[in-house]
Amino acid sequence: STAIDQLRAPCTIVHDVLEACKEWVQPGTTTEAIDAKVHALILSKGAYPSPLNYHGFPRSSCTSVNQVVCHGIPDDVPLEDGDMVNVDVSCYLNGYHGDASRMFAVGDLDDAGQALIRVTKECLDEAIAACGPGVNIAIIGDIISDLAHANGYGVVPTYCGHAIGRDFHMLPYIFHHRNNAQHLLQTGQVFTIEPMLIEDGSVDSHVLPQDGWTVVTNSGARSAQFEQTMVVTEDGVEVLT
Ligand code: MF3
Ligand code: CO
Repeated sequence: STAIDQLRAPCTIVHDVLEACKEWVQPGTTTEAIDAKVHALILSKGAYPSPLNYHGFPRSSCTSVNQVVCHGIPDDVPLEDGDMVNVDVSCYLNGYHGDASRMFAVGDLDDAGQALIRVTKECLDEAIAACGPGVNIAIIGDIISDLAHANGYGVVPTYCGHAIGRDFHMLPYIFHHRNNAQHLLQTGQVFTIEPMLIEDGSVDSHVLPQDGWTVVTNSGARSAQFEQTMVVTEDGVEVLT
């Protein structure tokens, strides 16, 4: 079977794990407990969690709460009512990786947090809708930055989407801020789009020195992210996750 057929299995597992997270993300639950369930479900399907030991990452998923932009390490701090959390799930099966993430509101999230989540999802969906064979990937940054800025949000320029397949992160990288990339998508190419938006319009972040992974906003404002893995088809893209 083709590479795309092989890719469907890890991508479907990632989708199913994120669906299960809807039930697992609750006030009082720790991100460590969620990660343990993510890990167990991935292994039960015969797959391997791509983040585990990836450049030394210590867990099977990334959990990024409130002002954490990405690469949060699951820990023993209970989620609180009103938090927002991104769960980023990736796995390896059949020689291929799949990768996706979603935001989850913990209990009763304020209206501003819900709006940040909604617009970040719209940024991803509108970028996906614009992709197809012959499309320059720079359009992804145009669409995401226009919609984010219209809502007063900043687009994190430091972390990007990526081609994916036999390796977790492959070229070309996909930027979410306005950029001058010159790469035309080709039928069969597989890649992610994964915009990170910051609530106060700022764009700067830093890695916490104590763990070398957790990326937080410099301003302390909240951040949201959604990610999908997709393949370029004859007339657009098909989301695999
Ligand atoms: N899943 C992330 C991405 O979207 C990568 C996480 S790498 C890790 O590309 F090591 F931090 F897990
Ligand atoms: Co990714």
